[in-house]
Amino acid sequence: MIKQIRGEMIGIICAEQKEINEILKLMTNKNEENFRSFKFIKGEINNHDCTAVLSGVGKVSSAICTQVLIFKYSPDIILNVGVAGGISEKINIGDVVIANNVVQHDFDVSIFPNRKRGEIPALSLVQIPCSTWVIEKILNSAKSISNVKVHNGTIVSGDQFINCPNKLLGLNTDFGGIACEMEAGAIGQTCFVNKVDFGIIRSISDNANSDAKINFEEFIEQSSMNAASILSAFIRSI
Ligand code: ADE
Repeated sequence: MIKQIRGEMIGIICAEQKEINEILKLMTNKNEENFRSFKFIKGEINNHDCTAVLSGVGKVSSAICTQVLIFKYSPDIILNVGVAGGISEKINIGDVVIANNVVQHDFDVSIFPNRKRGEIPALSLVQIPCSTWVIEKILNSAKSISNVKVHNGTIVSGDQFINCPNKLLGLNTDFGGIACEMEAGAIGQTCFVNKVDFGIIRSISDNANSDAKINFEEFIEQSSMNAASILSAFIRSI
């Protein structure tokens, strides 16, 4: 069953200015509000009420930002949109990954009995799920964007920019990750605790290898554009 949220509010969180720029290009009737260190931009995308915010990089900043977004604007759904490092051979720069779930790969209390690597004790979960109806609807609407290849699977999050082949191999073999980034795990945990529907749209800017920094800088704009075009198709579909 595909849930309808027509008329309700969508929160959009990006970590970097270049990522949010592509979202703001889609937005009409923009209004800005500042709260603490965050600038919330309210407006419409494809006639749908949206509030976009720049969280800053990393899990703590993005968790704070998500909680403020929820308290101040009561979004019915939160989407994390931006770029990621690809950690599967099948995924290329410019492709888009729609997450089924997200793992905090740097969370490790597995020294204690019955705790797995990546498990968040507060949730007793390794994989924080994205909302099934959101995943289905994004994947369906992405079919209309024929020039972007779309994958779906696990995204891994941690407070590290990954640029090392050994590390990225582990993220795939240990957690089944197909892409890595630095915020979605915290945004997902905050949405889970607040019972807010949640989805992740990330386009690949680099392959998390020794060229990652150069590729990230070169492709962040184009890849952010690809993620924004999938977001736009999703919003058009609801
Ligand atoms: N976001 C984009 N590329 C990344 C990488 N290689 N590591 C972590 N986050 C990223």
